[in-house]
Amino acid sequence: MADSLIAFYSRADENYVNGELKTLTTGNTEIAANIIKGAIGADLFKISQARPYSKIYNECIAEAQSDQRRDARPEIEDYPDDIDRYDIIYIGYPNYWGTMPMAVFTFLERFNFSGKIIKPFCTHEGSGMGSSEKDIKRLCPLAKVEKGLAIRGGSVSKSKNDIERWATE
Ligand SMILES: Cc1cc2nc3c(=O)[nH]c(=O)nc-3n(C[C@H](O)[C@H](O)[C@H](O)COP(=O)(O)O)c2cc1C
Repeated sequence: MADSLIAFYSRADENYVNGELKTLTTGNTEIAANIIKGAIGADLFKISQARPYSKIYNECIAEAQSDQRRDARPEIEDYPDDIDRYDIIYIGYPNYWGTMPMAVFTFLERFNFSGKIIKPFCTHEGSGMGSSEKDIKRLCPLAKVEKGLAIRGGSVSKSKNDIERWATE
């Protein structure tokens, strides 16, 4: 079987889920990443910002929007040693303002994905993948970017079968 890496960004803390503010102990995308790991047994890597966004939802959305408007590349705490040994890279993230968090842009620009298959998955509150697949293709022009999977953040656990099917196809 091909060697795979699941690299994901996810934020626990206060978030808006199905119309209500809730404090999550594990972020939605992290739950999805763990379901994929259970299905295919890949290595898991969490993309963490050196200076994380606020735990308070309203502050976080303002910070993330400001970073997106400035086309910022927030610093990431650390990276996988190398990605050469992986054939397939799953990239998971929440939809932030219509695309990926800017730290995922930082991550993707770090590596040469030539010849790799990228499988994007995204959790969201209604906007689906947004423009993230197009953005990944632009950032990783030498990769084969497969069709992504969009999952409602509040329904991640209920979507286990769909996530497993997509991950193994
Ligand atoms: C900063 C921020 C911006 C967001 N922007 C959008 C958006 O544009 N469209 C959308 O459907 N959901 C948006 N959401 C909701 C998240 O995509 C959703 O809650 C996701 O499941 C969070 O994943 P996580 O728990 O792994 O961080 C946003 C949430 C945050 C915190």
